[in-house]
Amino acid sequence: MNKVLTFPDSLGMALSIRAKALLFHDPQSLALLEQVERIARSDATVLVIGETGTGKELIARHIHAQSGRAGPFIAVNCGAFSESLIDAELFGHEAGAFTGASQARSGWFEAANGGTLFLDEIGDLSMALQVKLLRVLQERQVVRLGSRRAVPLDVRLVAATNVDLYKAVAADRFRSDLYYRLSVATVHLPPLHARPGDILPLARHFIRLYGAKLGLDDAGLAPAAEAALLGYDWPGNIRELENVVHYALIVCRGGCIQPDDLRMGGSGHRAAAPRSIPPAVPAAPPVIPAAPVAPASALDRLETLLADLVESGEPGLFDGVEERLIRTAYSVFEQNQVQTAKALGISRNVLRTHLKRFGLIGGGQLDVGAGLALGGAGHAAL
Ligand SMILES: Nc1ncnc2c1ncn2[C@@H]1O[C@H](COP(=O)(O)OP(=O)(O)OP(=O)(O)O)[C@@H](O)[C@H]1O
Ligand SMILES: [Mg+2]
Repeated sequence: MNKVLTFPDSLGMALSIRAKALLFHDPQSLALLEQVERIARSDATVLVIGETGTGKELIARHIHAQSGRAGPFIAVNCGAFSESLIDAELFGHEAGAFTGASQARSGWFEAANGGTLFLDEIGDLSMALQVKLLRVLQERQVVRLGSRRAVPLDVRLVAATNVDLYKAVAADRFRSDLYYRLSVATVHLPPLHARPGDILPLARHFIRLYGAKLGLDDAGLAPAAEAALLGYDWPGNIRELENVVHYALIVCRGGCIQPDDLRMGGSGHRAAAPRSIPPAVPAAPPVIPAAPVAPASALDRLETLLADLVESGEPGLFDGVEERLIRTAYSVFEQNQVQTAKALGISRNVLRTHLKRFGLIGGGQLDVGAGLALGGAGHAAL
């Protein structure tokens, strides 16, 4: 059985993510979907737990879509805030409430009133911010900075994390009272390698999606490429699969993806318990190239990918590319800041600013003086 859910545009959901469809095929995923839809109809606060790229944000959007709530879905990245701006972000402010507040603005909660507030990367919330969040959850009302009027709240909360919050509680990095308030219902999204029945249907889904954009209507996978997809561990989960397929479509010949077209394993395989790898499949028949082509350099290949992303109107492209560059380099050098900075040709201070901004190192305030984009971080969708 296969289930594809499509988010109607009319929900006005926008778009820190690319996907407008969710696909479930593996029995585990179908069971999960059923659980999610049951939870969605209640008003319970939901904690979505899963590794990076497993679809936490899509699930949060689906919960909202299924909840029947008329208000908006607001996505907030808890790792992206400076503590000095957090009060205004949480509670909103009146005009003139502080220097630079030329116009009144609603905070996260008020903006999501009647709808759903999605608190992404909740594990990145500093202790100070956890206290403030807890207060709003207890009082169920907010008072804008510079105002005396309390605004009553009717907001469904969905939080997501890729860190083990329970361990964070044990290590005194996350408040237990906030943890229990957030995890009234929990949804565990299994990593992609644990739901192998999803791999090929998802790959075909992305082939259809990106094939249409690239004018490759009949694109498909050679059997050896299917085996390669099934045999890989997918540490970056569905997002990695999506990127691998997208890239393969760009470089494959004649619309048939071969194992060589699959760029997997950038940051290595997960060091996980062994699992069954499908038997080797005989190599696909050789493909006769149309004309000899000089091998493209890595930067040329990157340029091709970038051109495609620019053309496809990828949202948040600049930040997305920057984040991936920093994340990848930091992971390649195993979190060694000196070596990462050297490889990127930037100073360690500049690197640290980026690492904080992308939530790769904890705590501290963002360096507003460094001119990093803080303004847009608040409301991913309004
Ligand atoms: N069930 C699914 N069907 C189709 N596409 C999916 C599904 N789940 C995830 N995706 C794709 O994977 C990408 C990652 O999903 P999403 O952003 O929801 O993951 P995430 O768990 O929030 O990741 P992160 O922890 O890195 O923020 C999405 O852009 C979407 O294209
Ligand atoms: Mg996410």
